[in-house]
Amino acid sequence: MTDKPINLPFRIAIVGSGPSGFYAAEALLRSEPPIEVDVFEKLPVPYGLVRYGVAPDHHKLKQVTRVFERIAQMEGFRLIGNVCVGEDVTVDALRQCYHAVIFANGAEREKDLGIDGECLDGSFSAREFVAWYNGHPHYRDLDIDFSHETAAVIGQGNVALDVARILLKSEAELSSTDIADYALEALSQSKVKKVHIIGRRGPVQAKFTDKELREFKTLPGCDPLVREEEFVLNAASHKELEDSTDAKLSTNLEIMQGFEFQPSSDHQKQCWFRFLQSPSRLMGENRVEALQLERCALVGEPLHQIPVPTGQLSRIDCGLVIRCIGYRAKRIPGLPYDTDKGVLRNNQGRLTKAGESLPGLYAVGWIKRGSSGTIGTNRGDSVDTVKQLLSDLPQLPEPQHSRSHILDSLTRSGLRHTSFGDWQKIDIEEVRQGQSLGKPRQKITTLPEMISVLDS
Ligand SMILES: Cc1cc2nc3c(=O)[nH]c(=O)nc-3n(C[C@H](O)[C@H](O)[C@H](O)COP(=O)(O)OP(=O)(O)OC[C@H]3O[C@@H](n4cnc5c(N)ncnc54)[C@H](O)[C@@H]3O)c2cc1C
Ligand SMILES: NC(=O)c1ccc[n+]([C@@H]2O[C@H](COP(=O)([O-])OP(=O)(O)OC[C@H]3O[C@@H](n4cnc5c(N)ncnc54)[C@H](OP(=O)(O)O)[C@@H]3O)[C@@H](O)[C@H]2O)c1
Repeated sequence: MTDKPINLPFRIAIVGSGPSGFYAAEALLRSEPPIEVDVFEKLPVPYGLVRYGVAPDHHKLKQVTRVFERIAQMEGFRLIGNVCVGEDVTVDALRQCYHAVIFANGAEREKDLGIDGECLDGSFSAREFVAWYNGHPHYRDLDIDFSHETAAVIGQGNVALDVARILLKSEAELSSTDIADYALEALSQSKVKKVHIIGRRGPVQAKFTDKELREFKTLPGCDPLVREEEFVLNAASHKELEDSTDAKLSTNLEIMQGFEFQPSSDHQKQCWFRFLQSPSRLMGENRVEALQLERCALVGEPLHQIPVPTGQLSRIDCGLVIRCIGYRAKRIPGLPYDTDKGVLRNNQGRLTKAGESLPGLYAVGWIKRGSSGTIGTNRGDSVDTVKQLLSDLPQLPEPQHSRSHILDSLTRSGLRHTSFGDWQKIDIEEVRQGQSLGKPRQKITTLPEMISVLDS
């Protein structure tokens, strides 16, 4: 039964309060006709990977949250936190209350290497490890052993650089960041001195950005190193450098040309940038003891070279492996999923099934295009999807229920949902606690503690 007939304003639900969700909300709230936007977030606090992904020692990048705060002040915006879509409320229930639903819930699974021993104790995905050091309530209890001197980081993107830096920085360098208190404590006891960052292709193909790579030249007490035999470019890679319009390739190479082949005697720590090495097996009795690598040769035309295993094996004895090879979206029951790409199946943001658009269902951000791009990349991407949505809007059916329907039923069920104002209280408390410790904030890392700040 419908509550009452509803005309304007249009009402849109967004699932997920990371960058793509906020940018989609902004695009909707700036548009005509007037639109109301409810952003559902499964955690009591917003901002997705800006809070739980961006490295704690890259605090400046988190200032983008000031932009999100301004979006949250726009008329028609509402955050409904601590509500997991698919668990606390179904997609069908959202469809009954909103003209359209935009999925902005990111890529919450990792890609797999598909090799033996991948899940041995001591082997973690970046998704888990990064969430752990950033104080994500669901990952705070991970048991990570830092007692071995050597760690392997698989993958050569910026996430691998973040992970390697956190493993190599000292307690003094991390203590002024917003790293989780338990992570700082564990890392301060860490014995890790040598980190290998492993790429299956060459230095020209590494996905690092130059600013992040350059940081390794000045990492206190740590030598950035390469192996001479892995640092030789084939003809196709030279051609890639010559032809590329992307200055990043040659800048990265120049930076790495400044890395040494031998560790210096006055530095205790080493970061080895390894190339043309594909992980082929994780070895160990009960937990990781070594990573087996297979040497690769690059084969193919410039810009299309693929790594082909040569059969030449080597091993790195290590006690910790962090797999930083990318993310994929979690499946949502009833929604079309592209298994190859690890995203919701969509055409320019409209969800599709068997080639046909599913009316009223959209995607933005990493769940739409996969795990690539910086925070800013999501702005244009969300604007693109919102354009499709706005052109569909006049044809979308009226929702059956009013805007208050979902919140009323959540409240009746006893679920303590949070608002943007609630987040601001938690924010103030975290910043207050951080001040006395010389940190930008001391993150609250359990759900009951977050809620108790609100109820106190
Ligand atoms: C480790 C790491 C470090 C990064 N560092 C940087 C950096 O320094 N600079 C930079 O520019 N970019 C960085 N990025 C990239 C940037 O974080 C992403 O481009 C961006 O966060 C993607 O935004 P999103 O909104 O699609 O997803 P997310 O940020 O993942 O947001 C998704 C949100 O949806 C919520 N959610 C999930 N499922 C549900 C559900 N069922 N119901 C309700 N809510 C749900 C999640 O809790 C989360 O809040 C980094 C990425 C990673 C992985
Ligand atoms: N400071 C920042 O701005 C910042 C920080 C963190 C993340 N980000 C952004 O977030 C996005 C995700 O970063 P990311 O590092 O997860 O992804 P990424 O940049 O795509 O890098 C993934 C790495 O994993 C490797 N890989 C994939 N599958 C593999 C396999 N089966 N075996 C071995 N290696 C494999 C890739 O190698 P191939 O190239 O050979 O496939 C690549 O080196 C990126 O756009 C990144 O720029 C930005």
